[in-house]
This record gives sequence, structure tokens and C-alpha cells, in this order.
Amino acid sequence: MKDGQFDQLILPIGTTLDRFINTQQSNFPFAKGEFSQLLRDIAIASKIVNREINRAGLTNISGSYGTQNGHGEDQQKLDVVANVRFIRALKNGGEVCAIASEEDEELIDTGNHNGKYVVAIDPLDGSSNIDVNVAVGTIFSIYRRVTPTGTPPTSEDILQGGTKQVAAGYILYGSSTMMVLTSGAGVDGFTYEPSLGEYYLSHPNMRMPKKGKIYSINESGFAQFPQAIKEYLRYCHEENYSARYIGSFVADFHRNLLKGGIFMYPQSTKNPEGKLRLLYECFPLAFIVEQAGGMAIDGEQRILEVIPTKLHKRSPLHIGSADMVKTVKKHFLLDHVRV
Ligand code: AHG
Ligand code: MN
Ligand code: MN
Repeated sequence: MKDGQFDQLILPIGTTLDRFINTQQSNFPFAKGEFSQLLRDIAIASKIVNREINRAGLTNISGSYGTQNGHGEDQQKLDVVANVRFIRALKNGGEVCAIASEEDEELIDTGNHNGKYVVAIDPLDGSSNIDVNVAVGTIFSIYRRVTPTGTPPTSEDILQGGTKQVAAGYILYGSSTMMVLTSGAGVDGFTYEPSLGEYYLSHPNMRMPKKGKIYSINESGFAQFPQAIKEYLRYCHEENYSARYIGSFVADFHRNLLKGGIFMYPQSTKNPEGKLRLLYECFPLAFIVEQAGGMAIDGEQRILEVIPTKLHKRSPLHIGSADMVKTVKKHFLLDHVRV
């Protein structure tokens, strides 16, 4: 068993997230409870963010905040609220020494220099959908720090590469709120019961269908896509696949995880590196998809093996059912033959 990872748990549907985390910990003889506490801190923050999202239309917290994040994107009020909530929970929890957030240009030193873990987070994914009452999400990824405990964290702690994740997950604030989690032994889904304030195991050991008939891409960029993607899209049309694109990565991914499908955000002449960020969008969902039997590539390479060179590094991403991702990869390999 790898450090920080656990055996597959078989627990009944209806088990609370808290009990699930405790059982996971007792499965791991040397665990001191820090990792479990960290997952609990994320769960608590997500409940607060869930409450804010549900009230957004009533409490004047939808809309733009009037500021931009480090990528020059407008920050929505809920982007800022979610960022503050998660950072506060992780700082107060004490287990995390550093946080890389989409909303902060630099790595955040939490001041907990004895914390063993670092977290990368997209506090609110799909934020342009808030004002129109469409599902949004949170994505997170957890690593063990590599610098010695007791010292200030450095970017080395977070730029380890996707294979070094000890856990990853997302929260989907949809028609119901769900948390989907992996710590390297399968994927489990928990549904939030708002009147009781608890997440309950509802989707144990999630497996992604090997084949699918859904493709998700912002096809308006067609003219600027690489030849491989143009060819693959023509193939999707010929096969009569269904096009489904919400514009919230978490929501698009979740649907495809359950039903079988592929999500693509390729490079284009407009965005030569794609749009999605490695640390808090590509890596965590790639870890989950692989743990559920799917695949994630940047074109030809397994995305988890990419070593990020900076905090907010972007990458093209093709993620989903294994057979579909393999077909995309074949098209990229054929690009070499074409030129
Ligand atoms: P974020 O709201 O965290 O900035 O992420 C938005 C991302 C992702 O959720 C979505 O899949 C993609 O942007 C949509 O981009 P396009 O509008 O270019 O299709
Ligand atoms: Mn995002
Ligand atoms: Mn975001």
C-alpha cells in the first residue's frame, strides 16, 4: 500500500462520510488522523459554500465582484466567497501547510508549518453559470509535502506531478449536492442531505463505462482545433453520438462518469495550451477517472505524468471512457503521419 492510500472499502450505502473517513483511517495502521481531519475540513467548507450557492439568488451574492483573478478572468462574488471559505477551513484545520488556489496568484502559506499536506483547489468551477442557476462545482487535490515539516512550504511541494496525489475529489452543487472522492483505492460518491447536514455514501465504488456515446466540447472553436480533434469530431457525428456541454467541467465530467462519455478541452490557435489548469482541474479529475477505469490524456501523454512548471499551468485535456480516449489518442498519433 502506498503511503496515504488505502485498501478498497466495502461499506453499505447510507454510511456517513465521517464514518467512511474513520473506517478508512483504521484501515491504515500508522495514520495519525491528520489526513482524515483534512477531508473533514473540506467537507465542512463545502457545506457552507453549498448554503451560499443555494441562497445566491436571494442574498445578492451572484454576479461579478468587480475584480479579476491572476488569469485576467472576472471574479464572481461566489468565486471569492468559496475561496475564502475553503482557505479559512484549511488554515483553521491545521493539517495543510500550503494551498494553491485558482483565485490566488501565489502559493498560500497557511502558517501551519507542521502540516504534512498541501492542497490545490478550484474553489468554484463553472462560475459563469452561477447567475443562470446551473450546476457548479469545487475541485481539490491533496499531496504530501516534500519539504521537511517545520519549515515554510515551497512551490516544490505542489509541483510534484499528478501521480503523487494522495487524494482528490470534487463537489458538485447540482440538483443534489455530491462529493466524489478517491484516495487511490477506487472512487466513492456521497450525496448531501441538507436537512441533516451530512454526506451519505450513495455511489460506492464508482466505475466509468468503458465505452460511451456522449462527447462534451465547446465546438464553437472547431476551426481552431488541431486536425486530430477535427477528425475525431467528424467521427462522433458519423457515430451519432450525443453532444452535451454544460460549461461547468465538474458537471460535464460527472455526467460522463455515470453514463460514459468524453470531455475535451483541446489546444487551439486561440489557446495554444488549452484552458484548463493542471493542478486544480486536470490532475484531480484525471486521478478520479483512472481510479474509475477511465483515461485522461493531453493528446498523446497520460496527463498525470505531466510535471507542471508553474502553479497555474494550463494543459489540453481529453478525459473520459477508456475506449473513447484511446480513439482520440489514435487521432493525435495519426497527426504525425499526416504532416
Ligand atoms: P472556472 O469557472 O473555474 O474558471 O472554470 C471554467 C472552465 C470549466 O468549468 C469549463 O469546462 C470551461 O471553463 C468552459 O470554458 P468555455 O466557456 O471556453 O467552453
Ligand atoms: Mn474551473
Ligand atoms: Mn473556478
